[in-house]
Amino acid sequence: MRKKIVAGNWKMNTTLAEGVQLAEEVNAALENATPKCDVVICVPFTHLAPVAAKINQTKLGLGAENCADHKSGAYTGEVSAPMVASTGATYVILGHSERRQYYGETSETLREKVALALENGLTPIFCIGEVLAERENGTFNEVVARQVEEGLFNLSAEDFSKIILAYEPVWAIGTGKTATADQAEDMHAHIRAVIAGKYGQEVADNTSILYGGSCKPSNAAELFAKPDVDGGLIGGAALKCADFMGIVNAF
Ligand code: PGA
Repeated sequence: MRKKIVAGNWKMNTTLAEGVQLAEEVNAALENATPKCDVVICVPFTHLAPVAAKINQTKLGLGAENCADHKSGAYTGEVSAPMVASTGATYVILGHSERRQYYGETSETLREKVALALENGLTPIFCIGEVLAERENGTFNEVVARQVEEGLFNLSAEDFSKIILAYEPVWAIGTGKTATADQAEDMHAHIRAVIAGKYGQEVADNTSILYGGSCKPSNAAELFAKPDVDGGLIGGAALKCADFMGIVNAF
């Protein structure tokens, strides 16, 4: 059975002191809780090692928000998958729409990043999603299928089974405009069918597909009730412990 997961994506928010404090709050909230899903926080690179030292990773997973498409070398300013793994983190968000849009990430660079993440024992949370124009002109199913195919279908079935997918319609990210639970379900079922076409039904059924885009305590339960929605990737609402835990407890 596929896992249910709620993962926070802090983006470029919090100073180190603020971030460590937030991680400690979430860690404390989980210490005596038995959530019905895995819980993960993905934090800025600078925060990884200090946060790793403060949290109990059997209850709260830790991830980066990106990694480089090279292992090491003369790539000033980049942070590699081995470096991320060496902090104690075990997840990495890859292909977030903000990285695709503002930093020119393509399926080609993402294939390199996915390979390096897997080689270093990191679980990729691989993001896909259409922009508003593609939602409106009706090409969204093809667009998202292509992102999955181009970014991931070079993997063996064994490696593909290590991937977590996050469907994040770009028009819903940070806009307060959530996809309806039905729109999310339709897309998640579509993505699962695309995976089944390549790797078979069993692999598709075991793939966790998270929804992201203005997910909050007030709409999480309705989204998570859908059969193909296996949890959420949470931006803004992950920056307040109470809101994030409200989403975790929506399961
Ligand atoms: P949001 O961001 O929850 O603030 O819309 C989600 C994401 O970009 O992962």
